[in-house]
Amino acid sequence: MRSDMIGPMRATAARRTATWALAHAPARVLFGREARRGNPTARLISDPAARLRPEPLWEEIRSRGALVRGKVSWATVSLPVVGQVLRGEEFTSMFPEPGNAIGRLYRSVRDPWALGPAEPPSLLAIDAPDHTRLRRLVSRAFTARRVAGLEAGVDKTTHELLDALELEDRVDLVERFAATLPVAVIADLLGVLPEERGPLLSWGNDAALLLDAGLPYREFKRAQRGVREMHQWVHGHIERLRAEPGDDVISTVIRQADDLPEDERPSPEELRLLALLVLGAGFETTVNLIGNALVLLDRHPDQRDLLRREPDRWPRAVEEVLRFDSPVQLTGRMARQDVDVAGTHLPRGSGIVMLLGGAHRDPDVFADPNTFDVARENAGDHLAFSAGPHYCLGAQLARLETVVGLRALYERFPALRIEGEPVRHTTQVLRGWSSVPVRLR
Ligand code: HEM
Repeated sequence: MRSDMIGPMRATAARRTATWALAHAPARVLFGREARRGNPTARLISDPAARLRPEPLWEEIRSRGALVRGKVSWATVSLPVVGQVLRGEEFTSMFPEPGNAIGRLYRSVRDPWALGPAEPPSLLAIDAPDHTRLRRLVSRAFTARRVAGLEAGVDKTTHELLDALELEDRVDLVERFAATLPVAVIADLLGVLPEERGPLLSWGNDAALLLDAGLPYREFKRAQRGVREMHQWVHGHIERLRAEPGDDVISTVIRQADDLPEDERPSPEELRLLALLVLGAGFETTVNLIGNALVLLDRHPDQRDLLRREPDRWPRAVEEVLRFDSPVQLTGRMARQDVDVAGTHLPRGSGIVMLLGGAHRDPDVFADPNTFDVARENAGDHLAFSAGPHYCLGAQLARLETVVGLRALYERFPALRIEGEPVRHTTQVLRGWSSVPVRLR
């Protein structure tokens, strides 16, 4: 190694340690301590084994009320409360608040070339007016009409992937279908060349890990390294499309951004994180929706047969998968002022963990909530795509990919069955399978 590289490398490592110490270590200690005292929310956050069977913990939280106080934060599994908080202007998704001393320190040490998808200036972690300014740049690309126009392309990609399975007997359907379909679709949409797609999945997994709170240092380090590479790649991608624009979403965003008055124009860091978020969110969540559906339908053959007989039921079935096994399990907000929620007074600065998976089993909203029923009338009342200002930009695209993809998969391989044990991801925020071994015929 060259001696002139040692200094910068040490600086990067010191920065990384300081970032972890400020962003992950406190959550790790606090939630870990709370979990040992039996707090069910803290157990879900800090114990991967508890996440394998979250239902009893959700019910314990529900039995304590609509909004439950913990030492670290409040928690809820009430769907109406989740909806109120996500839509409420009294809440922010910025942790810690910019004015706070820890927030200032954190912002001074973090590496701008290794920011994760839940850190400012990522859309997920900023408020209006910056959020409105940046979100507007991409939202037009994801209107229901624009997305409906992508159906033929999604169908074509689906059939290419299924053609490649024709000569196979046993495959891992996450590797060969659930992961590859969303990557191919979003890569196309964002102007990523087919030969450049190789490392995207591994970077996406790293970025997804950074959504979790209280990561152990070793995982944080690995995830940050991957995300750093992703930043470098996204930077090069933006530069390439700036020089040779296409008709993809990133080229459109660059064009629109360059036409804005200077004070509204996104900074290079904002633009990079916007592209990184749309790219990562575009496949890291949809892979889980498709994988969760595969396992649920295998465990409920009567429902799978119903869909085979009546394929028009697929759109509602996908809503039921989103409800029953939510690919995004939790999100958080902080009260930016004193506020009343579900009859409880929350002082400014109170954090709330919203357990979406648990809220989707709210018996006041969903009859017989622990039954998986693809014909459920109000399946679509879930909040799997969030609500309010941060409502998922890719919801329609994710639905389209999943309905088109699963329908074609089961049409082509009607005898498809899981053979072997599917393996769950251990992540906290995202819930899905890392492997679903199947026999195709
Ligand atoms: C099953 C698939 C998906 C699920 C379950 C999902 C879920 C979510 C959720 C829960 C949020 C908001 C989090 C919060 O409020 O704290 C979100 C935001 C977002 N999603 Fe998705 N998503 C999916 C697919 C996609 C796709 C395909 C794309 C891109 C094409 C995408 C792009 C985004 C973006 C850019 C945001 C940030 C929006 C904002 O903060 O304004 N998502 N998603």
